[in-house]
Amino acid sequence: MGEHKLQWGLKNRLSRITNNGKIIMLAVDHGYFQGPTTGLENPRRTIEPLLPYVDSLMVTRGVLRTSVEPSTDIPIVLRVSGGTSILKELSNEVVTTSMEEAIRLNASAVAVSIFVGADHEKESLDNLAKVVDEGERYGMPVLAVTAVGREMNRDARYLALASRIAAELGAHMVKTYYCEDFYKVVEGCPVPVVIAGGKKIAEKDALQLAYNAIKDGALGVDMGRNIFQSEDPVAMVKALRAVVKEGKSVEEAYSLFTRESGKQIKVVQKVQPGEDLD
Ligand code: R5P
Repeated sequence: MGEHKLQWGLKNRLSRITNNGKIIMLAVDHGYFQGPTTGLENPRRTIEPLLPYVDSLMVTRGVLRTSVEPSTDIPIVLRVSGGTSILKELSNEVVTTSMEEAIRLNASAVAVSIFVGADHEKESLDNLAKVVDEGERYGMPVLAVTAVGREMNRDARYLALASRIAAELGAHMVKTYYCEDFYKVVEGCPVPVVIAGGKKIAEKDALQLAYNAIKDGALGVDMGRNIFQSEDPVAMVKALRAVVKEGKSVEEAYSLFTRESGKQIKVVQKVQPGEDLD
């Protein structure tokens, strides 16, 4: 049997995530080390209205079980590394969820963070390598997340290093941050790259970030706070779709956002007595 057929399950799962095109993955896994992050205090309330507009959902098993209906037909990217909190050293992660559990939850991929250059770089790379081995055994793709410590520069040199290491260890997809010369990160990484959104910024800036990333070769976005902390998350995800999946300009997408969120500036025309308006 050829390699292609042997890896059918893995490729089938991966195609559910990549959806044969540019992708929007909704990241709502922040609670695994941040607790009830702003906008995710009640995960179900945040997630449900956004599901029709995203291609996949990145989530922990706890939120999946409690806050997503099992009948929902959305590919799941299950976060399986963690075990740390914002009160301690974040790089000291372990694998928190087994491959067996990921299969039981019908995950389409699993996600593991790596912390290149941090105190526990080696352990986090070991987590990734072991999960990739398990993933290959059971046909489960692995998304590596390049977590960036406060002391690291989010520049192309660092992000290309971290992304390439993730791919070399066998990750099937890499999630990293956008940066200047981002095309160098994509070029140096032999598997598809998606970007995280990072801290909440103005909606138009987040749309620009997504636009730039796609232009530089990203497969898509794996965005959280810039969607669910938006003043109108549904309008924001629709605008993101316009940029990521429909090739619209930032201006077009932002005007969609303002229209959808009811934010458009209402121009009040003063009509003089006896004057008609078209
Ligand atoms: C952080 O490690 C989590 O994996 C988040 O999913 C990630 O940071 C993406 O979310 P955001 O767009 O909010 O940065």
